Amino acid sequence: MSAEIIDGKAIARQIQHELHRAVQAFRKRTGAAPTLRVLLVGDDPASHSYVRAKARTCAAVGVEEETLHLPAETPEAKLLSILQKLNADPGVHGILVQLPLPDHVNTQRILEAIDPRKDVDGFHPINVGRLALGLPTMEPCTPRGIVELLHRSGHSPVRKHVVIVGRSNLVGKPLMNMLTRKTERENATVTVCHTGTPDLAPFTRQADIVVVAAGRPNTLTGAMIRPGAVVVDVGVNRIDDPDAPRGYRLVGDVDFDSVREVAAAVTPVPGGVGPMTTAMLAYNTLLAACHQVEGLPLGTAPVNET
Ligand code: GUN
Repeated sequence: MSAEIIDGKAIARQIQHELHRAVQAFRKRTGAAPTLRVLLVGDDPASHSYVRAKARTCAAVGVEEETLHLPAETPEAKLLSILQKLNADPGVHGILVQLPLPDHVNTQRILEAIDPRKDVDGFHPINVGRLALGLPTMEPCTPRGIVELLHRSGHSPVRKHVVIVGRSNLVGKPLMNMLTRKTERENATVTVCHTGTPDLAPFTRQADIVVVAAGRPNTLTGAMIRPGAVVVDVGVNRIDDPDAPRGYRLVGDVDFDSVREVAAAVTPVPGGVGPMTTAMLAYNTLLAACHQVEGLPLGTAPVNET
């Protein structure tokens, strides 16, 4: 058997079309454009590449985006004062600080300095707490993108057993909180495995859906899943490859070749979860703008009604 390859790029493109219409409608209703500011500190090549992808997606859907590039040695106090200005600017609806930040900066202090209403990453403790409580909130882009990807590819997680590998604040924990909500689109049984799990396979073999967000290549192999499982690969790892045009290639956390022989469906890297994350960032910026400009309840935007 060879698994269906879930085309995240095509699904994200479809979402971009929907968002483009919704953004045009917002502009018409309000005379304003949903506006995002991205802070990028230092020269990490992967971060630069992610931020470029975010800017491209925003441009494609009509979200005004500007990236502020700052040198790696920018003092924390300077970042805090920039955030204060962006928080106070009614023309800015979304703020994203690209992670990781340089070591001399206290990441948590920076994330807590973003106005929660403008926190399009959903990383502020108020938004994290609201998600954990099942209250409307700004939802982190990657887990939101994973839920959307599962639905749009015909693999609903509702009433399924989802095993998440990785307990990060960016993916594993928020995804657990989303999928366990009692909603028509979630309502899954969730197991979270992590580096404290001595043996992953007994857990992953019980899963209908395995989501791997461990940050380590080959974390999941075909022998560790049951036939017919759906596998979502969140990892993005750069592997040195002198034959590749850029001297490296990207691989996920999943051993793609062995998994595709056993799974019913698997997401590729690149072209799986990544494009969904950037689409959801544009969506969150629209949500933030609808909330701030039109007073719509947090987490609502008319997307499919135009
Ligand atoms: N670095 C890697 N992923 C992310 C993300 O989703 N948001 C931010 N701000 N930084 C990241």
